[in-house]
Amino acid sequence: MKLFDVYPRYDVEMVKAEGVFLWDSNNHKYLDLYGGHGVISIGHTHPVYVDRLKSQLGKMAFYSNSVNIPVQESFAEELTKFSGYADYKVFLCNSGAEANENALKLASFYTGKRRVIAFKGSFHGRTSATLAVTDNPKLSSALNRSTFPVDFLELNRTDQLRQAFEKEDICAVIVEGIQGVGGLDAPSPAFLKQLSETCQQKGVLLILDEIQSGYGRTGKFFAHQYAGIQPDIITMAKGMGNGFPMAGLLIHPKIKPWHGMLGTTFGGNPLACTAGLAVLKVLRQDAVLKNVLEVNKFLMNKLKEINQIKQIKGKGLMLGVEFDFPIREIRQTLLFKHKIFTGSSADPNLLRILPPLTISKKQIALFPAALKQILS
Ligand SMILES: Cc1ncc(COP(=O)(O)O)c(C=O)c1O
Repeated sequence: MKLFDVYPRYDVEMVKAEGVFLWDSNNHKYLDLYGGHGVISIGHTHPVYVDRLKSQLGKMAFYSNSVNIPVQESFAEELTKFSGYADYKVFLCNSGAEANENALKLASFYTGKRRVIAFKGSFHGRTSATLAVTDNPKLSSALNRSTFPVDFLELNRTDQLRQAFEKEDICAVIVEGIQGVGGLDAPSPAFLKQLSETCQQKGVLLILDEIQSGYGRTGKFFAHQYAGIQPDIITMAKGMGNGFPMAGLLIHPKIKPWHGMLGTTFGGNPLACTAGLAVLKVLRQDAVLKNVLEVNKFLMNKLKEINQIKQIKGKGLMLGVEFDFPIREIRQTLLFKHKIFTGSSADPNLLRILPPLTISKKQIALFPAALKQILS
């Protein structure tokens, strides 16, 4: 094998995709309840997305941030309007880790401080600063460890919050809207409110990592909007480009930029912004966020009929179906027998569901039906 072998892979090869379905090299059709790790927001090969990308590709694939890029301006305009953050600024980059790395750096620039509060079970990426705030020491090399002080607190423990904020050198708190890799635990609205208030009182920046939970996945544009708070920095990636690599930060206007403060060669390139604009257009024109809520309700009712399910975590179409036994075998049977692709997490008993947000009730109904068959 010529590839650096870091991924455990299923022995299937996907060669074609449309909407919520994938086809493998043997022409078997699969229902995609994984969305390539929560990336596919408006469905595979959506015609608006394909047409716009083809047209942009024919005009110009790339030029760097040394010139004006009108499609970047249009994208930022649309994003801030649609997400409810009209007065925030946008910085575009290429991956979730890069977005969080830049968010942490911005918080340190702004406050002149370097301690970060993060949470147990967190995953924020695999670059140096993001690994330091990720609660999984196995992923860190000697080089990544102890880059700056980090305090890991438990989610929803306001008592720990009070104590942690007694330190004077904190620049940021970073928290996921809903923990993805960790297993679908989430900060409660009350906890987020308290966190936001404490950050404001102490001059600490609140960074909401919405890389997985954002872009409509929970039925609101961002998961934290259920708590009615406004973080200082919001990071996003996955659903943003529907498969075209792109990521970004929404930045509170009190944080002022200077030339050279942040930068990237590829971030905000014309193809990425074209993909991003197509995603926003479809989310809006097809009332996709409303669909997320309706499909969620339908699925929750169906899943309630299955006694072996211990609980369902998450919101909208970012769900964790928890059993009191490991899901490994169920996941394999779903994939190989029922041709339904699902996800896993750090919790071995949790099946992770991250379908395209455009999925219909009829399509998602295949999942509880298959589960019932497997568990009977
Ligand atoms: C919440 C969260 N933050 C950050 C990341 C890192 O994103 P990327 O893999 O694009 O660097 C992920 C990826 O799974 C994530 O789920």
